[in-house]
Amino acid sequence: MKNQIQQLKQSKNAVILAHYYAPDDVQDIADYVGDSFYLAKIAKESTADILVFCGVSFMGESAKILNPGKKVLMPDLSADCPMAHMVKPGLIEKMRKKYEDLAVVCYINSTADLKCQSDVCVTSSNAAKIVKALPNQNIFFIPDRNLGSYVARQVPEKNIMINDGYCPVHAAVSAEHLRREKSAHPDAPVLSHPECEPEVLALSDYIGSTSGIIDYARASSKQEFIVCTEQGVRFRLRADNPDKRFYFPHPHPCCPDMKLNTLETVLSVLEQEDRTVEISEDLRTGALLPLDRMLKLGK
Ligand code: 13P
Ligand code: SF4
Repeated sequence: MKNQIQQLKQSKNAVILAHYYAPDDVQDIADYVGDSFYLAKIAKESTADILVFCGVSFMGESAKILNPGKKVLMPDLSADCPMAHMVKPGLIEKMRKKYEDLAVVCYINSTADLKCQSDVCVTSSNAAKIVKALPNQNIFFIPDRNLGSYVARQVPEKNIMINDGYCPVHAAVSAEHLRREKSAHPDAPVLSHPECEPEVLALSDYIGSTSGIIDYARASSKQEFIVCTEQGVRFRLRADNPDKRFYFPHPHPCCPDMKLNTLETVLSVLEQEDRTVEISEDLRTGALLPLDRMLKLGK
C-alpha cells in the first residue's frame, strides 16, 4: 500500500499532510506532519495540485479556505472534531451587542461558520501571543474553555470571556490519573496540551501545542516524561528520542476521528479523488479573513 501511495502521489502531484494524532503508519508516509498552525501554513504555501489532509474536518476546511485553487481530499470526510461545533447559536451576536470593542478570538478547532463570525483565529501554539497583540480590551474566546482560560492566565491585562466548549479527549485526562503517573515517575516532567482541564495544567511543567511538546522533549536533558495529550504524538517522540521514555496517563487519550485516517483510506482517496472538501464561496471568503490575520499575527 505504501508503494502504491507513493506512486499515486508522484503521478498526481499530490502531497499528504498529517496531524501528529494520525495513526503511526499515516504519519510515516506523509510529506508534512505537524501541529495545526504548521499544517495551515503548509496548506497555504503548497504548490501541489492535490492536498490529502489526514486530520479532522476543520483542518481540511482550513486548507481549502487558504488554498481554494487546490483539490483538497480527506481520507474520511466524517472525521470531525466535536469541539469545533460547541458554540450556542446566537451567542456571538449577543456578546457583540454587549461589548462594543469585542474581539471574537476563534480557536482553529472550529467550523468555517464560526470562523466567519470571528475577528481572528488562533491555534494552541500562538493563542496568547495573538490575544496580546490585539488592540481590543474585551475578548470572547471560542470554542475551547480550557485553552481560553489558559490564555486568560497568560494575558491578565485583558477582559477575556470564555465559551463553554471542550475537547472530550483531553477532558478525559484526570488529575487523579496524572498524580498516579507522577508518583510512579517522580523525575519525569509533565508536558500537557492546553486543551486539558485546569487541574491537569496546574500539575504540569510545560504547556504547549503538540509541536511545543515534541520540541520540549527533544531539547530536554531529562530521560523520561509524562505526556498529557493524544497518544499519536508518541510516534514522533519515540522517533526523535529513542533513548527517552514517555508515559501517558490511563486511559491513554485517543481521538477516534483522527484514527479514521488509515493507509487504506489514504490509498482509496488518492485513487478515486472522491472525498473532496467543498465550501461555498461566501463561507470561504468570510473565514479567510480571520485565518489570514492569524497567519500574519502568528509569524
Ligand atoms: P495542535 O495545534 O496543538 O496540534 O492541536 C490540535 C488539536 O486538535 C488538539 O486536540
Ligand atoms: Fe478535536 Fe480533541 Fe480530537 Fe483535537 S483531540 S481533533 S480537539 S476531538
